[in-house]
Amino acid sequence: MLRDQEVIENFVTCDFALADHALQWILENHLSTGQRFCELGSGFGVVTLLASLAGMEAIGIEIEQVLVDECIDLSERLAIEAEFYCGSFIPRNSLEGIEFDRDIKNVSTEEGDVYREVGLSMSDFDLFFAFPWPGEHVFFEQVFDEWAAVGSLLLTYRGRDGMHLIRKV
Ligand SMILES: C[S@@+](CC[C@H](N)C(=O)[O-])C[C@H]1O[C@@H](n2cnc3c(N)ncnc32)[C@H](O)[C@@H]1O
Repeated sequence: MLRDQEVIENFVTCDFALADHALQWILENHLSTGQRFCELGSGFGVVTLLASLAGMEAIGIEIEQVLVDECIDLSERLAIEAEFYCGSFIPRNSLEGIEFDRDIKNVSTEEGDVYREVGLSMSDFDLFFAFPWPGEHVFFEQVFDEWAAVGSLLLTYRGRDGMHLIRKV
């Protein structure tokens, strides 16, 4: 059981009802260029599952294997189609050209090859979701800006400041 394990310090869940509203609003208003959804740091994978229920082809990328196992278990128990991958959402050799705050603490800046396993690159997704810790959203935006496709969207949950949506132009 997950509750018997050590605390995973970077794991906090977001407001799932608000995330669901935001996804519905994006889709109802035809803001997404397509159906591919990716959660960057998917935790328990709930937002990925909500995106799948909303009709998207949804995947979650999570660096903690124990959480990926929970995501897969949850999706199977609820019979919701979604895929979860263990690894870093930061593509290999991607941070060289980016000036970012090296002191960020709650997101791992480790790079990896998970997109190879996914069979898609960041530029193949239409909508990303992330729940960054306060002040760390800039890092997610930098990775998004560097690697996502023009026209794709990044939705972030910012705690008391609610949901933020940006489009790459
Ligand atoms: C604040 S939690 C949010 C979890 C989930 N997105 C939600 O909204 O409930 C951030 C998650 O990102 C994961 N994480 C941190 N750095 C990561 C990285 N480089 N690649 C993939 N996952 C990462 C953490 O393990 C943690 O589960």
